[in-house]
Parts: sequence; C-alpha cells; structure tokens
Amino acid sequence: MNVRKATTDDAHAIAIVHVESWKTTYEGIVPAEYLAQLSVSEKEQLWQRGLNQPKHSIFVAEKDGKVCGFISGGKNRATQGKEAEYEGEIYAIYLLKEAQRKGYGTKLVRALVEDFRQEGIGSMIVWVLADNPSRRFYERLGGKKIAKEVIDIGGKKLAEWCYGWKNIEYFT
Ligand SMILES: CC(C)(COP(=O)(O)OP(=O)(O)OC[C@H]1O[C@@H](n2cnc3c(N)ncnc32)[C@H](O)[C@@H]1OP(=O)(O)O)[C@@H](O)C(=O)NCCC(=O)NCCS
Repeated sequence: MNVRKATTDDAHAIAIVHVESWKTTYEGIVPAEYLAQLSVSEKEQLWQRGLNQPKHSIFVAEKDGKVCGFISGGKNRATQGKEAEYEGEIYAIYLLKEAQRKGYGTKLVRALVEDFRQEGIGSMIVWVLADNPSRRFYERLGGKKIAKEVIDIGGKKLAEWCYGWKNIEYFT
C-alpha cells in the first residue's frame, strides 16, 4: 500500500476510481439514471483542472502500482453557518470497493491533514450523505456532526451531514 501526492498524469486513473466508487457507494441512494450517466472522460477533465490548482491537495492510494483511491481537499468552501468556522475541507475521498476497509482511507486522510498543517490550516470539515454508511469512518476519526443540509442529486432530495474537526494539530 502506497499513498503519494497526485500528479497531472493521475487524472485518468482518479476519474475511473471516482466513477466506479460513486456507482458502488450510491447504488440505491442516488437515482440510477444519474449514476448511469457519470462519465470518466468528463471527470478526467475536472480532475485535470483540479490537479493544476496549486491550492488543491490531492493524494492517491496505490496497490501494486495501480491507483485504487484518492482524496482531495483545500480551503473550506462554506461562507456561512457553523461549518464556515472551520478552515479546511475534505472535498472528496473515494476508494474502489475492493480497496475499502484496509486502512487506505485513514492513510489518505492523514496525508491530507499533514498538507493542511503545512499550509497553516488547523481545522477541517467534510460533507457526507446521511444515507452513506461510510460516514462512520469520519466518526471513527473523531469528526463531530456540526451541520446538515438537503441537496439535490439527479432530482432526488438527499440529506447531507457535515462533520468537523476543530483541531487537527494532534490528528493521529
Ligand atoms: C469511506 C472510505 C474512504 C474509508 O476508507 P477505508 O480505507 O475503507 O477505511 P479504513 O480501512 O481506513 O477504516 C477505518 C475505520 O473506519 C470505519 N469505517 C470505514 N468505513 C466504514 C463503513 N462503510 N461503515 C462503517 N464503518 C466504517 C471502521 O471503524 C474502520 O475500521 P475497521 O475496518 O477496523 O472496522 C472508503 O470506505 C470509501 O471509499 N467508501 C466509499 C466512498 C465513500 O463513501 N466516500 C466518502 C464520501 S463523503
């Protein structure tokens, strides 16, 4: 298992993981038509742009030299509410199904937190769908539920929870 900073060469591999993991994670939660239209080439363009933004931290997890997961994060996008009191944000973290529950996710979060610390970011949030059992991952890492909202994905209203870490200085 290896976690490293992503490069622009990783955009395609990240896009594949993004689309595959969305399909397995959100089956039965997000409308099937929405999941079916997800496109690797569109996501690849999105990640290509993200990888070219210096303020955007992206790491990949690899197994046997193949990308099986990624995390992305940066400055908190929230402008109001309790969630806006936090400095950093995990924008996305996704692993292929077969790579889950093997410790990669924890390693990816640690790598991002290390980057945040070096950037002087001392706290962070993440948004997660309430129906996603993976939210327990954030609870396990010490995240506290601080806010909620309702979002629309593919015409379906879904509850989303925000977890916050007030101090990531001693994150382990
Ligand atoms: C969420 C995710 C990134 C976590 O990474 P991971 O490598 O699977 O997690 P780890 O192996 O580091 O897990 C650490 C602990 O978190 C908890 N945990 C992780 N995933 C969990 C789940 N789906 N349900 C309940 N607890 C979970 C467990 O306590 C786990 O320890 P254990 O396996 O010894 O019981 C990964 O499972 C994933 O990509 N899931 C699908 C996509 C997703 O939901 N992304 C988040 C969107 S906001």
